Amino acid sequence: MGRTTILRPFTKLLYKKSDPSLERTVFGLKFRNPVGMAAGIDVSAKYSRHLSDMGFGFIEIGSVTPLPQKGNPSPRLFRLPKDKAVIARMGNNNDGVKAVIDNLKKKRPSAIIAANITKNAASEGDKIVKDFGYCFSMLYDFVDMFVVNISCSFADGKQPDISYLSEILDEILDTRMTLDIYKPVLLKISPDIGHSQIDEILNYAQLSGIDGIVVGGSTLSRENLATSPKKLESIGEGRLSGAPLFKKNLELVRYINEKTKGRLPIVGCGGIMTPENASEMLKAGASLVEVCTGLLYSGPSLVKKINKHLISENA
Ligand SMILES: Cc1cc2nc3c(=O)[nH]c(=O)nc-3n(C[C@H](O)[C@H](O)[C@H](O)COP(=O)(O)O)c2cc1C
Repeated sequence: MGRTTILRPFTKLLYKKSDPSLERTVFGLKFRNPVGMAAGIDVSAKYSRHLSDMGFGFIEIGSVTPLPQKGNPSPRLFRLPKDKAVIARMGNNNDGVKAVIDNLKKKRPSAIIAANITKNAASEGDKIVKDFGYCFSMLYDFVDMFVVNISCSFADGKQPDISYLSEILDEILDTRMTLDIYKPVLLKISPDIGHSQIDEILNYAQLSGIDGIVVGGSTLSRENLATSPKKLESIGEGRLSGAPLFKKNLELVRYINEKTKGRLPIVGCGGIMTPENASEMLKAGASLVEVCTGLLYSGPSLVKKINKHLISENA
């Protein structure tokens, strides 16, 4: 529908929900509602305008890498219907930063655009920091804010340690200081890291000038799933997203909110499958929420349902 100009108003009519009570100002940016599209769906900013018509308050494009990359061979996305989850090993497929900029120039949507940036799979050593810095500088004029994705780009699936992380972020934050317009920089964390690593990241975040945290990415864990071990084995490697993540990520949001005394805005993500999940995430301390697998299972009406539910709670 989004592709046909004449049908665009119908998309908006069907899915968009506006209300002053939904509006939020976070990191100095005005969001028309708190529901965002998580990274991994609009990887090359081809669908941002359509997602905006579908009622999202913000869209996280990417992960974007300096050079285009095909990602892993198919099949690379598997549904786990019994768990309302998916396992994905996409391998950060995207058209690369230059193509993404071309798309952003063509199709600027009305929703806020966040660029999720990461390194190319082949980049190692010093090149990693350079990759992040390059994507940041190139995209600066074309998006409203940034998410630094260190949660799912490293070969072992683990996050880099704090000294490495600070090298990446220092490069970005130093560049930002030289620019006229201030754009928020958020850090996306994996739910698989321990509390001591989270504490280190929070200390660093508060000292360095990071504007917020996205909590969080998908998990490598396969615990407490209804899907049979045989099916899981046949799928093989990949990160798990969807309903099984919710409890853990909700607790992480609550933990970070308490630890930072609410001073570091949080984007709550992971396992938000229903309007009630979104509301719980916001009550736990998130300023904004994001959906991904929920959209794959419920379809585009999920955004409107969440927003309607939030309006009814405010009434
Ligand atoms: C198919 C797919 C691709 C994804 N790709 C990315 C990505 O490129 N960068 C990223 O930071 N997160 C990526 N994610 C993670 C999501 O942004 C989100 O953090 C995670 O799926 C948890 O949210 P959910 O349970 O609502 O899906 C991807 C998730 C899926 C399902």
